[in-house]
Amino acid sequence: MGSRRKFLGQLGGAAGLLSTQALIAPAFSKQGQYQLGRIEGLSPAETARDEDFWSWVREAYTVSPEIINLNNGGVSPQPRSVQEGMIRYYRMSNEGPSYYMWRILDKGRESLRRKLAGLAGCAPEEIAVNRNASEALETVIFGLRLDRGDEVILSRQDYPNMINAWKQREKRDGIKLVWLNFELPADDDNAIVRKFSDAITSRTRVVHVTHVVNWTGQIMPVSRIAESAHRAGARVVLDAAHSFAQLEFTFPETGCDYAGTSLHKWLCAPFGSGMLYVRKARIGNLWPLFAGAEPESDDIRKFEALGTRSFPSEHAISQAVDFHLAIGTGRKLARLRYLKQYWSEKVRDVPGIRFYTTFATNRSCALCNFGIDGIETGKLEARLLNEYRIHTSPIVWENIDGVRVTPHVYTMPRDLDILVEAIREIASKAANR
Ligand SMILES: Cc1ncc(COP(=O)(O)O)c(C=O)c1O
Repeated sequence: MGSRRKFLGQLGGAAGLLSTQALIAPAFSKQGQYQLGRIEGLSPAETARDEDFWSWVREAYTVSPEIINLNNGGVSPQPRSVQEGMIRYYRMSNEGPSYYMWRILDKGRESLRRKLAGLAGCAPEEIAVNRNASEALETVIFGLRLDRGDEVILSRQDYPNMINAWKQREKRDGIKLVWLNFELPADDDNAIVRKFSDAITSRTRVVHVTHVVNWTGQIMPVSRIAESAHRAGARVVLDAAHSFAQLEFTFPETGCDYAGTSLHKWLCAPFGSGMLYVRKARIGNLWPLFAGAEPESDDIRKFEALGTRSFPSEHAISQAVDFHLAIGTGRKLARLRYLKQYWSEKVRDVPGIRFYTTFATNRSCALCNFGIDGIETGKLEARLLNEYRIHTSPIVWENIDGVRVTPHVYTMPRDLDILVEAIREIASKAANR
Protein backbone atom coordinates (compact mmCIF):
# COMPACT_ATOMS: atom_id res chain seq x y z
CA MET A 1 0.00 0.00 0.00
CA GLY A 2 2.68 2.47 1.04
CA SER A 3 5.03 1.81 -1.83
CA ARG A 4 5.63 4.79 -4.06
CA ARG A 5 5.78 2.67 -7.19
CA LYS A 6 2.48 1.02 -6.35
CA PHE A 7 1.03 4.41 -5.49
CA LEU A 8 2.05 5.97 -8.81
CA GLY A 9 0.68 2.90 -10.57
CA GLN A 10 -2.66 3.32 -8.81
CA LEU A 11 -2.73 6.96 -9.86
CA GLY A 12 -2.11 6.08 -13.47
CA GLY A 13 -5.00 3.62 -13.43
CA ALA A 14 -7.35 6.10 -11.86
CA ALA A 15 -6.55 9.13 -14.03
CA GLY A 16 -9.61 11.36 -14.34
CA LEU A 17 -10.66 13.88 -16.93
CA LEU A 18 -8.20 16.47 -15.68
CA SER A 19 -4.48 15.98 -15.61
CA THR A 20 -3.87 14.17 -12.33
CA GLN A 21 -0.11 14.49 -12.70
CA ALA A 22 -0.35 18.26 -12.93
CA LEU A 23 -2.43 18.30 -9.76
CA ILE A 24 -0.20 16.16 -7.58
CA ALA A 25 3.10 17.64 -8.72
CA PRO A 26 2.99 20.55 -6.26
CA ALA A 27 1.94 18.21 -3.43
CA PHE A 28 4.90 15.90 -3.85
CA SER A 29 7.86 18.16 -4.09
CA LYS A 30 11.40 16.81 -4.30
CA GLN A 31 11.38 16.62 -0.49
CA GLY A 32 8.12 14.64 -0.56
CA GLN A 33 9.44 12.24 -3.17
CA TYR A 34 12.63 11.83 -1.16
CA GLN A 35 10.72 11.11 2.06
CA LEU A 36 8.34 8.68 0.38
CA GLY A 37 11.30 6.92 -1.22
CA ARG A 38 13.13 6.76 2.11
CA ILE A 39 10.30 4.98 3.95
CA GLU A 40 9.64 2.55 1.12
CA GLY A 41 11.49 -0.28 2.80
CA LEU A 42 10.37 0.53 6.35
CA SER A 43 7.64 -1.36 8.21
CA PRO A 44 4.63 0.58 9.55
CA ALA A 45 6.05 0.23 13.09
CA GLU A 46 9.42 1.65 11.99
CA THR A 47 7.81 4.47 10.04
CA ALA A 48 5.63 5.33 13.04
CA ARG A 49 8.75 6.62 14.87
CA ASP A 50 10.44 8.28 11.92
CA GLU A 51 10.05 11.95 12.86
CA ASP A 52 11.72 13.18 9.64
CA PHE A 53 9.01 11.55 7.61
CA TRP A 54 6.18 12.88 9.78
CA SER A 55 7.72 16.36 9.74
CA TRP A 56 7.31 16.29 5.97
CA VAL A 57 3.70 15.13 6.43
CA ARG A 58 3.13 18.06 8.81
CA GLU A 59 4.55 20.45 6.22
CA ALA A 60 1.96 19.13 3.78
CA TYR A 61 -0.78 20.60 6.02
CA THR A 62 -1.46 24.20 7.01
CA VAL A 63 -1.14 23.74 10.76
CA SER A 64 -2.25 26.59 13.02
CA PRO A 65 0.55 28.25 14.97
CA GLU A 66 -2.13 29.45 17.42
CA ILE A 67 -3.56 26.24 18.81
CA ILE A 68 -2.63 22.59 19.15
CA ASN A 69 -5.52 20.91 17.44
CA LEU A 70 -6.28 17.64 19.18
CA ASN A 71 -9.88 17.42 18.06
CA ASN A 72 -9.27 15.73 14.74
CA GLY A 73 -12.04 13.31 15.68
CA GLY A 74 -14.53 16.11 14.96
CA VAL A 75 -13.36 16.89 11.47
CA SER A 76 -9.94 16.70 9.85
CA PRO A 77 -8.00 19.41 8.08
CA GLN A 78 -7.07 18.90 4.44
CA PRO A 79 -3.52 18.73 3.16
CA ARG A 80 -2.46 21.61 0.92
CA SER A 81 -2.90 19.45 -2.19
CA VAL A 82 -6.57 18.94 -1.34
CA GLN A 83 -7.11 22.61 -0.50
CA GLU A 84 -5.45 23.60 -3.77
CA GLY A 85 -7.53 21.12 -5.77
CA MET A 86 -10.67 22.42 -4.11
CA ILE A 87 -9.82 26.07 -4.86
CA ARG A 88 -8.84 25.24 -8.40
CA TYR A 89 -12.14 23.42 -9.10
CA TYR A 90 -14.04 26.21 -7.38
CA ARG A 91 -12.46 28.85 -9.62
CA MET A 92 -12.98 26.68 -12.67
CA SER A 93 -16.67 26.22 -11.76
CA ASN A 94 -17.13 29.96 -11.48
CA GLU A 95 -15.87 30.49 -15.01
CA GLY A 96 -19.02 28.81 -16.31
CA PRO A 97 -20.91 26.93 -13.57
CA SER A 98 -23.30 24.79 -15.56
CA TYR A 99 -20.64 23.84 -18.11
CA TYR A 100 -17.79 23.05 -15.72
CA MET A 101 -19.87 21.59 -12.87
CA TRP A 102 -22.31 19.49 -14.84
CA ARG A 103 -20.37 18.61 -17.96
CA ILE A 104 -16.84 18.30 -16.58
CA LEU A 105 -16.70 17.78 -12.82
CA ASP A 106 -19.91 15.74 -12.54
CA LYS A 107 -18.45 13.24 -15.03
CA GLY A 108 -15.36 12.88 -12.87
CA ARG A 109 -17.39 10.97 -10.29
CA GLU A 110 -16.87 7.69 -12.13
CA SER A 111 -13.10 7.74 -11.72
CA LEU A 112 -13.55 8.89 -8.13
CA ARG A 113 -15.91 5.97 -7.52
CA ARG A 114 -13.22 3.56 -8.72
CA LYS A 115 -10.60 5.16 -6.50
CA LEU A 116 -12.81 5.04 -3.41
CA ALA A 117 -13.82 1.46 -4.15
CA GLY A 118 -10.12 0.57 -4.36
CA LEU A 119 -9.65 1.98 -0.88
CA ALA A 120 -12.80 0.31 0.46
CA GLY A 121 -11.95 -3.06 -1.12
CA CYS A 122 -15.28 -3.40 -2.89
CA ALA A 123 -16.70 -2.99 -6.40
CA PRO A 124 -17.14 0.56 -7.76
CA GLU A 125 -20.78 -0.37 -8.35
CA GLU A 126 -21.22 -0.56 -4.55
CA ILE A 127 -20.06 3.01 -3.80
CA ALA A 128 -22.15 6.19 -3.90
CA VAL A 129 -20.54 9.57 -3.27
CA ASN A 130 -22.44 12.00 -1.07
CA ARG A 131 -21.91 14.65 1.59
CA ASN A 132 -21.28 12.95 4.93
CA ALA A 133 -21.81 9.92 7.15
CA SER A 134 -25.16 11.22 8.37
CA GLU A 135 -26.50 11.39 4.84
CA ALA A 136 -25.10 7.98 3.95
CA LEU A 137 -26.45 6.26 7.06
CA GLU A 138 -29.81 8.04 7.03
CA THR A 139 -30.21 6.89 3.43
CA VAL A 140 -29.97 3.36 4.80
CA ILE A 141 -32.02 3.92 7.95
CA PHE A 142 -34.90 5.54 6.08
CA GLY A 143 -34.49 3.38 2.99
CA LEU A 144 -34.82 -0.06 4.59
CA ARG A 145 -38.16 -1.81 4.21
CA LEU A 146 -39.30 -2.45 7.78
CA ASP A 147 -42.72 -3.33 9.17
CA ARG A 148 -44.38 -2.43 12.45
CA GLY A 149 -42.88 -4.59 15.22
CA ASP A 150 -39.65 -5.32 13.34
CA GLU A 151 -36.69 -5.03 15.69
CA VAL A 152 -33.49 -3.03 15.28
CA ILE A 153 -30.56 -3.50 17.67
CA LEU A 154 -28.45 -0.43 18.40
CA SER A 155 -26.50 0.99 21.29
CA ARG A 156 -26.57 4.00 23.60
CA GLN A 157 -23.02 4.70 22.45
CA ASP A 158 -23.97 5.12 18.77
CA TYR A 159 -23.81 8.55 17.14
CA PRO A 160 -26.74 10.91 17.98
CA ASN A 161 -27.75 11.56 14.33
CA MET A 162 -28.15 7.84 13.77
CA ILE A 163 -29.96 7.32 17.06
CA ASN A 164 -32.37 10.15 16.16
CA ALA A 165 -33.00 8.70 12.72
CA TRP A 166 -33.86 5.30 14.20
CA LYS A 167 -36.07 6.98 16.82
CA GLN A 168 -37.92 8.79 14.05
CA ARG A 169 -38.59 5.46 12.34
CA GLU A 170 -39.78 4.08 15.65
CA LYS A 171 -42.25 6.96 16.00
CA ARG A 172 -43.32 7.03 12.39
CA ASP A 173 -43.38 3.33 11.48
CA GLY A 174 -43.75 1.50 14.79
CA ILE A 175 -40.51 -0.45 14.59
CA LYS A 176 -39.04 -1.58 17.91
CA LEU A 177 -35.63 -0.35 19.06
CA VAL A 178 -33.64 -2.79 21.18
CA TRP A 179 -30.98 -0.91 23.13
CA LEU A 180 -27.56 -2.14 24.23
CA ASN A 181 -25.43 -0.22 26.70
CA PHE A 182 -21.65 -0.68 26.88
CA GLU A 183 -19.29 0.17 29.71
CA LEU A 184 -16.24 1.55 27.95
CA PRO A 185 -13.46 0.69 27.64
CA ALA A 186 -14.39 -2.90 26.92
CA ASP A 187 -11.51 -5.32 26.55
CA ASP A 188 -13.49 -8.48 26.00
CA ASP A 189 -14.63 -8.90 22.38
CA ASN A 190 -16.48 -12.10 23.31
CA ALA A 191 -18.64 -10.19 25.79
CA ILE A 192 -19.41 -7.51 23.19
CA VAL A 193 -20.41 -10.08 20.57
CA ARG A 194 -22.48 -11.95 23.16
CA LYS A 195 -24.36 -8.79 24.09
CA PHE A 196 -25.41 -8.34 20.46
CA SER A 197 -26.28 -12.00 19.91
CA ASP A 198 -28.26 -12.21 23.17
CA ALA A 199 -30.45 -9.34 21.94
CA ILE A 200 -31.32 -11.06 18.66
CA THR A 201 -34.86 -12.45 18.38
CA SER A 202 -36.96 -13.85 15.54
CA ARG A 203 -38.13 -10.25 14.85
CA THR A 204 -34.61 -8.79 14.51
CA ARG A 205 -34.20 -7.28 11.07
CA VAL A 206 -31.27 -4.91 11.52
CA VAL A 207 -28.17 -4.66 13.69
CA HIS A 208 -26.60 -1.19 13.76
CA VAL A 209 -22.89 -1.13 14.68
CA THR A 210 -20.54 1.80 15.16
CA HIS A 211 -17.18 0.47 14.01
CA VAL A 212 -15.11 2.96 16.04
CA VAL A 213 -17.12 4.50 18.87
CA ASN A 214 -16.63 8.23 18.37
CA TRP A 215 -16.80 9.07 22.09
CA THR A 216 -13.84 6.90 23.11
CA GLY A 217 -12.24 5.27 20.06
CA GLN A 218 -13.27 1.72 21.04
CA ILE A 219 -13.07 -0.61 18.04
CA MET A 220 -16.06 -2.93 17.83
CA PRO A 221 -15.58 -6.53 16.57
CA VAL A 222 -17.89 -5.91 13.66
CA SER A 223 -17.23 -9.01 11.56
CA ARG A 224 -18.13 -11.29 14.47
CA ILE A 225 -21.24 -9.25 15.26
CA ALA A 226 -22.20 -9.41 11.56
CA GLU A 227 -21.77 -13.18 11.56
CA SER A 228 -24.24 -13.64 14.37
CA ALA A 229 -26.68 -11.12 12.83
CA HIS A 230 -26.56 -12.91 9.50
CA ARG A 231 -27.14 -16.29 11.13
CA ALA A 232 -30.44 -14.84 12.33
CA GLY A 233 -31.22 -13.40 8.89
CA ALA A 234 -30.71 -9.77 9.99
CA ARG A 235 -28.93 -7.05 8.00
CA VAL A 236 -25.95 -5.11 9.33
CA VAL A 237 -25.58 -1.33 9.08
CA LEU A 238 -22.05 -0.13 9.77
CA ASP A 239 -21.24 3.39 10.92
CA ALA A 240 -17.73 3.68 9.53
CA ALA A 241 -17.29 7.41 10.17
CA HIS A 242 -14.15 6.86 12.23
CA SER A 243 -12.88 3.63 10.76
CA PHE A 244 -12.67 4.43 7.06
CA ALA A 245 -9.13 5.59 6.16
CA GLN A 246 -8.02 5.09 9.75
CA LEU A 247 -8.25 1.30 10.28
CA GLU A 248 -7.02 -1.30 7.80
CA PHE A 249 -10.09 -3.16 6.56
CA THR A 250 -12.37 -3.63 3.59
CA PHE A 251 -16.14 -3.32 3.69
CA PRO A 252 -16.72 -6.88 2.42
CA GLU A 253 -14.57 -8.38 5.17
CA THR A 254 -16.58 -6.63 7.90
CA GLY A 255 -19.62 -8.55 6.69
CA CYS A 256 -21.77 -5.43 6.74
CA ASP A 257 -24.58 -5.01 4.23
CA TYR A 258 -24.52 -1.20 4.31
CA ALA A 259 -21.96 1.33 5.51
CA GLY A 260 -21.64 5.07 5.64
CA THR A 261 -18.69 7.32 6.28
CA SER A 262 -17.65 10.93 6.08
CA LEU A 263 -14.58 11.55 3.96
CA HIS A 264 -13.78 14.82 5.78
CA LYS A 265 -12.67 12.82 8.80
CA TRP A 266 -9.79 10.38 8.40
CA LEU A 267 -9.38 10.68 4.65
CA CYS A 268 -8.87 14.47 4.99
CA ALA A 269 -11.11 15.20 2.01
CA PRO A 270 -12.99 18.52 1.67
CA PHE A 271 -15.56 19.43 4.32
CA GLY A 272 -18.95 18.02 3.39
CA SER A 273 -17.84 14.89 1.57
CA GLY A 274 -19.01 11.37 2.30
CA MET A 275 -19.64 7.93 0.94
CA LEU A 276 -22.24 5.17 1.06
CA TYR A 277 -21.44 1.50 0.58
CA VAL A 278 -24.25 -0.92 -0.26
CA ARG A 279 -23.52 -4.55 -0.93
CA LYS A 280 -24.49 -5.20 -4.56
CA ALA A 281 -27.26 -7.66 -3.71
CA ARG A 282 -28.89 -5.15 -1.34
CA ILE A 283 -29.07 -2.11 -3.66
CA GLY A 284 -32.37 -2.90 -5.40
CA ASN A 285 -34.29 -3.26 -2.15
CA LEU A 286 -33.05 -0.05 -0.52
CA TRP A 287 -35.08 3.10 -1.19
CA PRO A 288 -33.01 6.20 -1.99
CA LEU A 289 -33.50 9.22 0.29
CA PHE A 290 -33.72 11.54 -2.72
CA ALA A 291 -35.83 9.80 -5.30
CA GLY A 292 -34.50 9.17 -8.77
CA ALA A 293 -36.39 7.98 -11.85
CA GLU A 294 -35.97 4.33 -10.89
CA PRO A 295 -35.85 4.08 -7.09
CA GLU A 296 -35.89 0.27 -7.14
CA SER A 297 -33.09 -0.16 -9.63
CA ASP A 298 -29.90 -1.89 -8.58
CA ASP A 299 -27.71 0.91 -9.89
CA ILE A 300 -25.79 2.50 -6.99
CA ARG A 301 -26.06 5.90 -8.75
CA LYS A 302 -29.71 6.11 -7.66
CA PHE A 303 -28.34 7.29 -4.28
CA GLU A 304 -26.60 10.26 -5.87
CA ALA A 305 -29.66 12.24 -6.98
CA LEU A 306 -28.80 15.07 -4.60
CA GLY A 307 -29.34 17.92 -7.02
CA THR A 308 -26.70 20.62 -7.15
CA ARG A 309 -24.00 20.00 -4.58
CA SER A 310 -20.47 21.24 -4.07
CA PHE A 311 -18.82 19.70 -7.11
CA PRO A 312 -15.42 21.22 -6.21
CA SER A 313 -15.52 19.49 -2.79
CA GLU A 314 -16.54 16.25 -4.36
CA HIS A 315 -13.90 16.36 -7.07
CA ALA A 316 -11.08 17.20 -4.67
CA ILE A 317 -11.76 13.97 -2.73
CA SER A 318 -9.49 12.48 -5.34
CA GLN A 319 -6.48 14.47 -4.09
CA ALA A 320 -7.23 13.26 -0.57
CA VAL A 321 -7.15 9.64 -1.75
CA ASP A 322 -3.79 10.29 -3.45
CA PHE A 323 -2.33 11.79 -0.29
CA HIS A 324 -3.69 8.97 1.87
CA LEU A 325 -2.28 6.32 -0.48
CA ALA A 326 1.11 8.00 -0.47
CA ILE A 327 1.32 7.40 3.29
CA GLY A 328 -0.58 4.10 3.21
CA THR A 329 -3.29 3.03 5.65
CA GLY A 330 -0.97 0.67 7.55
CA ARG A 331 1.60 3.38 8.19
CA LYS A 332 -1.03 5.93 9.09
CA LEU A 333 -2.71 3.63 11.60
CA ALA A 334 0.62 2.64 13.16
CA ARG A 335 1.53 6.33 13.59
CA LEU A 336 -1.87 7.23 15.06
CA ARG A 337 -1.63 4.37 17.55
CA TYR A 338 1.93 5.38 18.38
CA LEU A 339 0.82 8.98 19.10
CA LYS A 340 -2.14 7.86 21.21
CA GLN A 341 0.04 5.53 23.27
CA TYR A 342 2.80 8.19 23.45
CA TRP A 343 0.77 10.65 25.51
CA SER A 344 -1.65 8.34 27.29
CA GLU A 345 1.07 6.03 28.67
CA LYS A 346 2.88 9.06 30.09
CA VAL A 347 -0.14 10.14 32.16
CA ARG A 348 -1.57 6.70 32.85
CA ASP A 349 -0.51 6.77 36.51
CA VAL A 350 -1.34 10.40 37.25
CA PRO A 351 -3.42 10.36 40.47
CA GLY A 352 -7.14 10.93 39.76
CA ILE A 353 -6.98 10.25 36.01
CA ARG A 354 -9.49 7.83 34.51
CA PHE A 355 -9.61 6.49 30.96
CA TYR A 356 -12.61 5.57 28.84
CA THR A 357 -10.28 4.17 26.19
CA THR A 358 -8.42 0.91 26.37
CA PHE A 359 -4.62 0.68 26.30
CA ALA A 360 -4.93 -2.45 24.14
CA THR A 361 -3.66 -1.16 20.79
CA ASN A 362 -5.67 -3.60 18.69
CA ARG A 363 -8.93 -2.23 20.15
CA SER A 364 -8.07 1.47 19.93
CA CYS A 365 -6.74 3.95 17.42
CA ALA A 366 -6.10 7.72 17.48
CA LEU A 367 -9.03 8.63 19.72
CA CYS A 368 -8.61 8.54 23.49
CA ASN A 369 -10.90 9.85 26.20
CA PHE A 370 -9.92 10.68 29.77
CA GLY A 371 -11.29 12.51 32.79
CA ILE A 372 -9.75 13.81 36.00
CA ASP A 373 -11.51 13.29 39.33
CA GLY A 374 -12.53 16.52 41.00
CA ILE A 375 -12.74 18.59 37.81
CA GLU A 376 -15.77 18.79 35.54
CA THR A 377 -15.20 17.77 31.95
CA GLY A 378 -16.32 21.14 30.57
CA LYS A 379 -13.88 22.94 32.87
CA LEU A 380 -11.08 20.53 32.00
CA GLU A 381 -11.57 21.19 28.30
CA ALA A 382 -11.72 24.96 28.90
CA ARG A 383 -8.50 24.91 30.93
CA LEU A 384 -6.67 22.94 28.25
CA LEU A 385 -7.72 25.53 25.71
CA ASN A 386 -7.38 28.72 27.72
CA GLU A 387 -4.21 27.92 29.63
CA TYR A 388 -2.37 25.67 27.16
CA ARG A 389 -4.01 26.46 23.77
CA ILE A 390 -4.88 22.80 23.32
CA HIS A 391 -8.16 22.20 21.49
CA THR A 392 -9.96 18.99 22.50
CA SER A 393 -13.56 17.80 22.67
CA PRO A 394 -15.51 17.62 25.96
CA ILE A 395 -17.80 14.60 26.02
CA VAL A 396 -20.59 14.02 28.50
CA TRP A 397 -22.74 11.33 26.96
CA GLU A 398 -24.53 8.43 28.62
CA ASN A 399 -21.91 6.77 30.89
CA ILE A 400 -18.93 8.69 29.42
CA ASP A 401 -17.65 11.87 31.05
CA GLY A 402 -14.27 12.97 29.75
CA VAL A 403 -12.24 14.94 27.25
CA ARG A 404 -11.50 13.30 23.92
CA VAL A 405 -8.02 13.79 22.53
CA THR A 406 -7.47 13.01 18.86
CA PRO A 407 -4.12 13.56 17.18
CA HIS A 408 -3.70 13.20 13.42
CA VAL A 409 -0.86 12.48 11.03
CA TYR A 410 0.44 16.06 11.28
CA THR A 411 0.61 15.94 15.10
CA MET A 412 4.15 15.74 16.47
CA PRO A 413 5.24 14.23 19.80
CA ARG A 414 6.30 17.74 20.92
CA ASP A 415 2.62 18.80 20.73
CA LEU A 416 1.71 15.87 22.94
CA ASP A 417 4.46 16.71 25.43
CA ILE A 418 2.59 19.96 26.10
CA LEU A 419 -0.61 17.99 26.64
CA VAL A 420 1.15 15.64 29.07
CA GLU A 421 2.53 18.57 31.03
CA ALA A 422 -0.92 20.22 31.09
CA ILE A 423 -2.64 17.07 32.37
CA ARG A 424 -0.04 16.63 35.13
CA GLU A 425 -0.42 20.24 36.28
CA ILE A 426 -4.22 20.26 36.17
CA ALA A 427 -4.49 16.91 37.98
CA SER A 428 -2.04 17.99 40.64
CA LYS A 429 -3.96 21.23 41.30
CA ALA A 430 -7.25 19.28 41.44
CA ALA A 431 -5.73 16.84 43.94
CA ASN A 432 -4.40 19.65 46.15
CA ARG A 433 -7.68 21.51 46.38
C1 LIG B 1 -19.58 7.67 14.70
C2 LIG B 1 -20.07 8.82 13.88
N1 LIG B 1 -21.05 8.62 13.01
C3 LIG B 1 -21.54 9.61 12.25
C4 LIG B 1 -21.03 10.89 12.33
C5 LIG B 1 -21.62 11.96 11.49
O1 LIG B 1 -20.68 12.53 10.64
P1 LIG B 1 -21.07 13.78 9.75
O2 LIG B 1 -21.34 14.92 10.67
O3 LIG B 1 -19.90 14.00 8.90
O4 LIG B 1 -22.29 13.39 9.01
C6 LIG B 1 -20.02 11.16 13.24
C7 LIG B 1 -19.47 12.50 13.39
O5 LIG B 1 -18.69 12.82 14.25
C8 LIG B 1 -19.52 10.09 14.03
O6 LIG B 1 -18.54 10.29 14.92
